[in-house]
Amino acid sequence: MTIPTSPKKVGLIVYFIGFTAALAGLLFGLDVGVISGAQQFIQKEFTISDNAIQLVVSALLWGAAFGALFSGVLSSRFGRRKTILISAVNFIVGAALCAVSPNEHLLIFARFILGIAVGVASFTAPLYLSEVAPRTIRGSMISMYQLMITIGIVLAFLSNTWLATYATFGGVTGGHWRLMLGIIVLPAAVMFVGVYLLPESPRWLFLKGFQERAVAVFKLMKLDEAEIAAEVREIEDSVKVKQNGFQLLRTNSNFRRAIGLGVGLQIIQQLTGINVVMYYAPKIFALAGFEGVNEQMWGTVVVGVTNVLATFIAIAFVDKLGRKPIMYAGFVVMGLALLTVGAFFNMDIEKNPQFGYPAIGALLVFIIGFAMSAGPIIWVVCSEIYPLAGRDLGVTFSTGTNWIANAIVGMTFLSLINGFGPGNTFLLYGGLNVLFIVFFLIFVPETKGISLEQIERNLMSGLRLRKIGR
Ligand code: BGC
Repeated sequence: MTIPTSPKKVGLIVYFIGFTAALAGLLFGLDVGVISGAQQFIQKEFTISDNAIQLVVSALLWGAAFGALFSGVLSSRFGRRKTILISAVNFIVGAALCAVSPNEHLLIFARFILGIAVGVASFTAPLYLSEVAPRTIRGSMISMYQLMITIGIVLAFLSNTWLATYATFGGVTGGHWRLMLGIIVLPAAVMFVGVYLLPESPRWLFLKGFQERAVAVFKLMKLDEAEIAAEVREIEDSVKVKQNGFQLLRTNSNFRRAIGLGVGLQIIQQLTGINVVMYYAPKIFALAGFEGVNEQMWGTVVVGVTNVLATFIAIAFVDKLGRKPIMYAGFVVMGLALLTVGAFFNMDIEKNPQFGYPAIGALLVFIIGFAMSAGPIIWVVCSEIYPLAGRDLGVTFSTGTNWIANAIVGMTFLSLINGFGPGNTFLLYGGLNVLFIVFFLIFVPETKGISLEQIERNLMSGLRLRKIGR
């Protein structure tokens, strides 16, 4: 079966499609990043406790878990494209509500509503990308989504720094938290317009019996006759299994194995400890002896920029070297880096300011390790391992798990550092990263360059998970 093997053959239109769908990642990142800078001003204006602030932060994560859990139903029923459009509207409404909230109760509610949009987008965008991307660039296209998340985070950090300290509106300089939260309306509107122009996923069209429209999408993507015929043959084969996800879940243990794999992968992504840094970077800088708010804000921007740049390593190599070699390298880098951070913190860093810079240096190495591996690649693999008939439900499970684990990590960091100390907390996460190598050795397949349908055949024939790829 010959499908394009050279990425050069792929038309520009495919990259346009990829870029536009990946805008959902930008909004995801903006919403994740924005709260670290807004927190202190919200707390001041509403005079609320730390606990209430934690609710303001985590309401978005619980909303996202909720959104991810029912977006399978939405995207299966209305299609991937319409579901992303719905989430764009939800982003606009949620961000606007946050900006005008008169008290913390409404703000918590608004953050939950916004979270639903984040959850739906984080479910549907990678799914859509995996279904429209030609297999030779599938890994890079989904990694582009991750790149957008990281760009969103860094833009939020930058906009926070500006609105927190420099910007003057209505005679007031700094502290504009309502604008920090409200500004997200603009990119959400851009995404709505962009996604409106996109075609529907050809695989979803096929699943719903719209073969001709699916072929038209392939033509739009400039695939030639032979390539289209090959794609169609493959999709037809997998569409023959006309079951829905819940039926599959009940009756098919191979599908359940794939779900176990996806859930495990997302737990692992969160237990790398990445969001400890994303949500609490200013706090970690303070613990490492950097006391000025300005250096904490700019330090956080450096974290964000490092996260963006290192994602390019994954984009460049994910379809060449494969998913697994990059993940192994990532775990080694992340594990060693966090063990180093932990060791420095345990050497009484507050009394030894000379350890501050090397500790933060190691923390940045950890970010590089994550961004070049687990950041993008977990999303890539999770969108590749499920059979078409159960893909919506499978991705629902893994994405929902991502958000639940995310919320748990976010909500336990402060308790962990208060209970065990920052040093031991980093040692714990470092150790976990080393352990995850074993999970990859035993369970995770290499999915580079192989069609989704071939992965499905391998899975359904009962091959070991590790073998369902190449
Ligand atoms: C993770 C997020 C994380 C982000 C950081 C994503 O892949 O799912 O939880 O905040 O990467 O770049």
